[in-house]
Amino acid sequence: MKILGIESSCDETGIAIYDTDHGLIADQLYSQIELHAQYGGVVPELASRDHVRKIVPLIQQTCEEGGLNLRDLDAIAYTAGPGLVGALLVGACVGKSLAWALDLPAIEVHHMEGHIMATLLEDDKPEFPFLCLLVSGGHTLLVDVKGLGDYQILGDTLDDAAGEAFDKTAKMLGLPYPGGRYIAELAQQGDPMRFQFPRPMLNKPGLDFSFSGLKTATRMTWEKNQDSCENDSEKQQLKANIAAGFQLAVIDTLSQKCLRAIKQTKHQELVISGGVSANTFLRETLHKMGKKHRFKSYFPSLKYCTDNGAMIAVAGAMRFKNKKIKQHHLIKAYPRWSLEQLN
Ligand code: KG4
Ligand code: ZN
Repeated sequence: MKILGIESSCDETGIAIYDTDHGLIADQLYSQIELHAQYGGVVPELASRDHVRKIVPLIQQTCEEGGLNLRDLDAIAYTAGPGLVGALLVGACVGKSLAWALDLPAIEVHHMEGHIMATLLEDDKPEFPFLCLLVSGGHTLLVDVKGLGDYQILGDTLDDAAGEAFDKTAKMLGLPYPGGRYIAELAQQGDPMRFQFPRPMLNKPGLDFSFSGLKTATRMTWEKNQDSCENDSEKQQLKANIAAGFQLAVIDTLSQKCLRAIKQTKHQELVISGGVSANTFLRETLHKMGKKHRFKSYFPSLKYCTDNGAMIAVAGAMRFKNKKIKQHHLIKAYPRWSLEQLN
């Protein structure tokens, strides 16, 4: 069975076709990053308009890539939420209309479920149940994944998401948007021990996160030290040291909370997904920790860490195969949608 996946919840138009027998057969992505970079963040109205421009040509391109006709499809899956309402509506309208026109089932997919399922695109994949650390621009969640659609949130962020903290720190240091990967690059030239930044919430019990205190600490360090730099090279070194110290504090916090959750749930498999899972230091830290504490970490390939259509297609395929589809006749988008209310 061939499932078309449509992702348009934020600033990426992602379209893919997943075949339940042969895996991913076509995958196209159009990123709006350049469009929003000049504003230092996503402008929702511009995002919606750009999805409108790109979505239909991208569906045609995806079909061409897979050597398929729309009539060869068996179902249409699209991100129905959470996300920017205008952007979501573009994907929902196109997805639902295509399904109506072709007389196929339309499958509403939760964006975070898509991220959780992204590792299923890999050859070496986890099996239910497992623990998932979902770290993106908008979320930092520790989820007990008991089965498809059966999720219990064990930890959430009380303020900024991990990706958001990376982006804000990058902006402060004058790096481009979205700044996660630029912080990671800059950190390679820095001394992570030069500044000691707080490890938020590690000294408290529980699995929640908070990154606003860390954000303030990095800002204060930057403001206190930047004037004493005598030249550009010293300023660059200061930025690199802050980036390295910040990254170490975030990754330390995330990985220690994962270990705590592994011990609490007794799961032996940990899935890490969402944009921040592209971070090399996070990957290395969790692989090492897994060797020591006997759990196995699974990461999506780099291109499936950030938003994409393939994760929506594979999540839609899982729902289709397991007959977990809600049928109704309305075009709906859910800007806020709890992962725990999917069943
Ligand atoms: O999952 P995603 O594409 O979008 C949301 O659903 O939010 O995640 C985007 C986030 C951004 O905050 C970006 O800075 C971050 O992922 N990110 C990274 C890296 N690559 C992307 N953060 C840290 N290190 C990276 N290498
Ligand atoms: Zn995402």
